[in-house]
Amino acid sequence: MGVTNGLGVSDPFGGAGWRRSCIGAQTMEGVGLAACSEMRPKVSRRTDRQMPASVPRRLSAHLAPMRMRINKLLDTAAIPGNGGELRFYQRGEEYSIEVVGIAGELMSTAIHGSEDALAEIAIGRLPSPADARVLVGGLGMGFTLAAALKCVGEKGKVVVAELVPEVVKWNQGPMGDRAGAPLRDPRAQVVVSDVLELIRKERAAYDAILLDTDNGPEGLTQASNDRLYSHRGLRSAYDALRPRGVLAVWSTDAHAPFTKKLGMAGFRVQEEKVHAHGAKGTRHHLWFATRP
Ligand SMILES: C[S@@+](CC[C@H](N)C(=O)[O-])C[C@H]1O[C@@H](n2cnc3c(N)ncnc32)[C@H](O)[C@@H]1O
Repeated sequence: MGVTNGLGVSDPFGGAGWRRSCIGAQTMEGVGLAACSEMRPKVSRRTDRQMPASVPRRLSAHLAPMRMRINKLLDTAAIPGNGGELRFYQRGEEYSIEVVGIAGELMSTAIHGSEDALAEIAIGRLPSPADARVLVGGLGMGFTLAAALKCVGEKGKVVVAELVPEVVKWNQGPMGDRAGAPLRDPRAQVVVSDVLELIRKERAAYDAILLDTDNGPEGLTQASNDRLYSHRGLRSAYDALRPRGVLAVWSTDAHAPFTKKLGMAGFRVQEEKVHAHGAKGTRHHLWFATRP
């Protein structure tokens, strides 16, 4: 189990609105537990960056009708070693996970286009996707895992590392059906762990490593995840990949220094912008770094 120290790390965006900062985001002091049902506007963390927290920049047509639905708090989870808390909500047929003290959502079952694309594009670049061995970090709502399982063949294998045990439990319940219950697939293996620990253990073991742990390499608020995207972390990923293997990284935005860092670690780098949901609107940034 990884140890994190996200508390007390300041918001790198100066409070300019929710970014996808996952579990390491700063937890505001004095924020009490919400009532089990709340009436408040909901905004995906993946669609509202760089805007005042109270004014949604954009809501997709898909999300807009959900704004005034009642949110039912289903469960909470302590973030290991961090002091923060995740909250798991149901809103109609959709589910969301939030970080206490951060406006907006960590992840919603309503939006997963770029999470799917992370796996589809990376595995589509492999010389032999049918029997590929893939590592995903982290599980979230299981969409990247589900997409990876669709892309590999019967002989493929997808290991997913998830830091928060309750996130695994939530995926084993009705929420998991939203992504097609990928944890029930015999080719999937879930490990409750920091993905970096798994990466460091292996040499030339994976055909693809798909990282979706945070806001992206420039938006990290969790110090321990910073190690993943450091030169050492990238070199560990390089070593854990087989030749022609692909490291794929999800981000809200492009970040030129990270592209350079991938090159310095020895990768051949390509970047793509993909839609967060459907064929228009917000786009996210993906890196596909190939080990020569
Ligand atoms: C945005 S969600 C991932 C979304 C996922 N791609 C999907 O399709 O639903 C980020 C997940 O990564 C997990 N996480 C964060 N840091 C991690 C780490 N170092 N190792 C493993 N999991 C981590 C979080 O607990 C959270 O479940």
